[in-house]
Amino acid sequence: MSHLLQINSSVFSQGGQSSQLAGHYVENWSKTHPGSTITIRDLASDPAPHLDGARVGAFFTPAEQRSPAQQEVIAYSDRLIAEIMAADTIVIAAPMYNFSIPSTLKAYFDHIARAGVTFRYSETGAVGLVTGKKVVVFSTRGGFYANTANDSQTQLVRQFLGFLGMTDVSFVYAEGLAMGDSQKESALTEARSAAIKLVA
Ligand SMILES: Cc1cc2nc3c(=O)[nH]c(=O)nc-3n(C[C@H](O)[C@H](O)[C@H](O)COP(=O)(O)O)c2cc1C
Repeated sequence: MSHLLQINSSVFSQGGQSSQLAGHYVENWSKTHPGSTITIRDLASDPAPHLDGARVGAFFTPAEQRSPAQQEVIAYSDRLIAEIMAADTIVIAAPMYNFSIPSTLKAYFDHIARAGVTFRYSETGAVGLVTGKKVVVFSTRGGFYANTANDSQTQLVRQFLGFLGMTDVSFVYAEGLAMGDSQKESALTEARSAAIKLVA
């Protein structure tokens, strides 16, 4: 049985353009995967905390030496990681905010990058431990960046996911959403049809 994890990071929760595009994919995916299950993680209503010294300290403390507070930090990160590990398909709604991913998505990423858990170092370099996932990223933007050197968001997301072992990653863009109604409508229509083509 398949399991899908949808991660929304728009400040507008499920009302965001990126969340709606991701939702469109998930709706079609569930029709072609009867009996499958879906988890939605909404980072606007339930944000991961920013990393601080205490959190990083918990990550670096050996399990048997962790204080009760550090155990809580680890338990939270473990829950997020278990959610990702349980999914075959991961859908990320990632609008562009100030030339990057939303800070809530970055904080979430900071909690799932754990040495010895989601990646490890070998003599030949880092090895990602989150393998066998199909990932689809929906990125909505006010302007145009895709396939240009200005698209630092795609590079960041692809590199981060690849570092953890997720290499089957597709991006769907809806761009120019701040450039008039007609551009917005055509970009969203195109992105919706690209989403359906990616459902497998
Ligand atoms: C705080 C904020 C920052 C934004 N920064 C950018 C940006 O750097 N470049 C851009 O093209 N659009 C930017 N936009 C526009 C959004 O990318 C666009 O409205 C997108 O549809 C938002 O997706 P959402 O509805 O899923 O949140 C920004 C929007 C907000 C709210």
